[in-house]
Amino acid sequence: MQTTFNDIVEDFISNKIGISANFLSIDLAKKLKGNLNDLLNHQKLKNAGIGNLVDFQNDKLIRNDSIYWLDRSHNNKFENEFLDLIDTFVTFLNETCYTGITSYEFHYALFPIGSFYRKHIDQFKNDDSRQFSMIFYLNADWNIGDGGELNVFHESCTQSITPTNCKAVFFKSNELAHEVLETLVPRMSITGWLKRN
Ligand code: OGA
Ligand code: MN
Repeated sequence: MQTTFNDIVEDFISNKIGISANFLSIDLAKKLKGNLNDLLNHQKLKNAGIGNLVDFQNDKLIRNDSIYWLDRSHNNKFENEFLDLIDTFVTFLNETCYTGITSYEFHYALFPIGSFYRKHIDQFKNDDSRQFSMIFYLNADWNIGDGGELNVFHESCTQSITPTNCKAVFFKSNELAHEVLETLVPRMSITGWLKRN
């Protein structure tokens, strides 16, 4: 795991965005996808909003994915396995890069067929606690032509990232604008933010 952590951080330092094709094991990705399907079947997924509680708009023109927040109080074995991995990564990051991360928040996300998330930045205007964004993809059979690519806007180019199974992306929440292109298949992920309070 240390090699994976090291690689994604090195990639981030060189390119403003760290990408690791196999951050999650196939086994863990499968279990988390199973959780997401269970949440869908039990109607636990909620329409996602934009902004935070102080400035909340639920705007279907900007995003139309559905989400569910992870929490250790769910006592879900697979969810906890994922959060254990995040804990280890945060410890690594704080020790190697002095990032001072004190907490985090992660949600499952389902982008149904035809959904998207327009260009945005993850840090809120009235709250700078979100330091780093991380997204983990759970799409076991994603193919070219399925859509749902993550576009990241750099100063001089736009980088297109495919949402393939087990991949993680990692970038500064106040820096890189990004968008999710319309997906032509159901698109699953876990997205979250490492925070400093
Ligand atoms: C987000 C986001 C990107 C993705 O949820 O803020 O930008 O690839 N997600 O799912
Ligand atoms: Mn985002």
